[in-house]
This record gives sequence, C-alpha cells and structure tokens, in this order.
Amino acid sequence: MKEKLQEIRAEALDLLKECKDKNELDALRVRYLGKKGELTALLRGMGALSPEERPKMGAMVNEVRGLIEKALEEKLHALEAEELSRRLAEEQLDVTVPGVQNRLGKKHPLSTVLDEIKDIFLGMGFQIATGPEVELDHYNFEALNMPKNHPARDTQDTFYITENILLRTQTSPMQVRVMEKQKPPIKIIAPGRVYRSDEVDATHSPLFHQVEGLVVDKGIRMSDLKGTLELFAKRLYGEEAVVRFRPHHFSFTEPSAEMDIRCFSCGGKGCRLCKGEGWIEILGAGMVHPKVLEGCGIDPEVYSGFAFGLGLERIVMRRFNIDDLRLFFENDLRFLEQF
Ligand code: PHE
Repeated sequence: MKEKLQEIRAEALDLLKECKDKNELDALRVRYLGKKGELTALLRGMGALSPEERPKMGAMVNEVRGLIEKALEEKLHALEAEELSRRLAEEQLDVTVPGVQNRLGKKHPLSTVLDEIKDIFLGMGFQIATGPEVELDHYNFEALNMPKNHPARDTQDTFYITENILLRTQTSPMQVRVMEKQKPPIKIIAPGRVYRSDEVDATHSPLFHQVEGLVVDKGIRMSDLKGTLELFAKRLYGEEAVVRFRPHHFSFTEPSAEMDIRCFSCGGKGCRLCKGEGWIEILGAGMVHPKVLEGCGIDPEVYSGFAFGLGLERIVMRRFNIDDLRLFFENDLRFLEQF
C-alpha cells in the first residue's frame, strides 16, 4: 500500500509539472483528489489494515494529499501568470502604427443631379410622386393614347413580362396614375427608373432614369410650360442658359415640343459635346392631350395641363463630361470617387 502511495505521489507530481493548461489541471485534480480519485480509493482500501497501521497509513495518505494539493495550487498560479503575460504581450498597443483610412462613401453623380432637379421643382411648388416600375400596358401605353398596334410603341423596345404587364419604358404612366387619384390642381414631378431593351453601349443602357413633370389646373397654357421649363433650365445650368423649343410629336401631348439648351461648351458654334449642332436636347414636353385628361376623369373643357419628361443620364453626362453611360452602372470606385 505504501508503495502504491509513493507511486501515486511520484506520478501525480510528474504529470503536474508537465501540465500545460487549466483544463488539464482540472482533470488531474479530479483524477487524484476527486471522490472517485486514486487517493480516495486508497483510503477505502485501509479497512484491510491492522488497527495500528491504519492511523499511520492515514497520516501518510493525508500528507501526499497535501503535497498534491499544494502542487496543484502552485501550478494554477504559474499557469495564470503565464496566461497574463501572454495576453499582455498579445494585446500590446503600438500607438505609432499608422491608422487604417476608412473610405468615405460619396453620392452617385446621378443622385447629385437628381437631388438638384428635385430641389428646383420643390422650390417651384411641385410635389414628388413615385410609382411602380413593373407597370400595366394600360398605364404605359393605352391611357397615354397609344392603343395596341400604335406605331409609337415600336420605338420603345419594351420588355414585356406578360401580354399586359411590362417594365415601364417611360415615367409618363405616372401622369395617368396621379390624375386618376388626385383632382386638379396637380403639380408633381415623378423621377424614376425606366427600361428599354437596348444593346448596351456608350450611349445606351436597358435601364436609365427619367423625371416626369405634370401640371394640371384651370387655364394652364403653353406659355406656362415654356416659362416653367426655361426657369428650370436657368436654375440647373445658370442664368446665362438659353433654351429653344422645337415642334415634336408625342401621342399623349398636343401640341408637343422638345426643349434644347444652347451648348454651354461652344456657346452655339458647334463642338464635339453638341455634335456640331450648337444645341443639346434635354427634354420632351407638351400640353396634356384632351383624350388623356378625359380618360382620367378630368374634364378637358374645364382643365388643361402640361407635361414634360427629361432623361437624367444625358444631363449628368454633359454636366461632368462623362462620355460613357456604362460608367454610371458599373460601380467602379475609381470612377465614383471622382465626384
Ligand atoms: N415620355 C416621353 C419620352 O420618354 C417624354 C415626354 C414626357 C414627352 C412628357 C412629353 C410629355 O420620350
């Protein structure tokens, strides 16, 4: 029994010396001192000893127990000290290391100019309306005086989802949606995405942005259209901006026009920016067609209105001298960070 005790003692102290972490240490504590541990087992075996030997043996077991307990305690302190110094070394903070620069987000150029446009119209008393990009044929075409088989539909390269559902090719369906819900006076702009199945190149993208405008009230005339849009152009491009209106055709306005701005690069002489024209087209517009008003339950004998639609990308490209439309949608930071 004595030998067994010496064996346990030697083995326990050896194992403790090699022990590398607290888990191992706990396992050793259980193994030697626990209720089912080796020393307890030894004590239980003492019944077989003679009454004289028993207390001696008991004292010896207790001595070894004490030794192991002390060694455990010391090892625990040693392990904790080790851990502390390791953590201190790991967590050392070098305040001289240069900081990591967080890259700041920037406004997309399309958003910058759209926000300016919104501000200009809000300042003139317009409200902002929004509506669905997945649209009914009815709103995108039919209610805009473009029945099925109307030739103007072919020019719009429409993405159809079903026969009657499509991706809106223009923001003009918002005219109808607003007039159906709201009675005059109406004075809104409706900015948003529009879709046409164009091949992607420097000037075409299947997704682009328009800003629609609509004013309906009693006594709205062509001169209101011209005054409003000229004021808009001057606010956007500066007081010296010059505009002109050219007759045009849209099925949902009558009369219709396109507005050009005199090229701000060459002053009208003709250059690369305006492709030698001296003028740059920036929007389509016109007086709301009586049929469209009527279809929305607005009496064209009492009310009249004007509408316009501008293409955002073109305006932004000229503003920042961007020659490729694809740059807007590729999200290349080297491009975006320039703004
Ligand atoms: N929706 C027309 C287009 O996409 C523009 C427009 C809007 C014309 C409103 C007149 C009135 O070309």
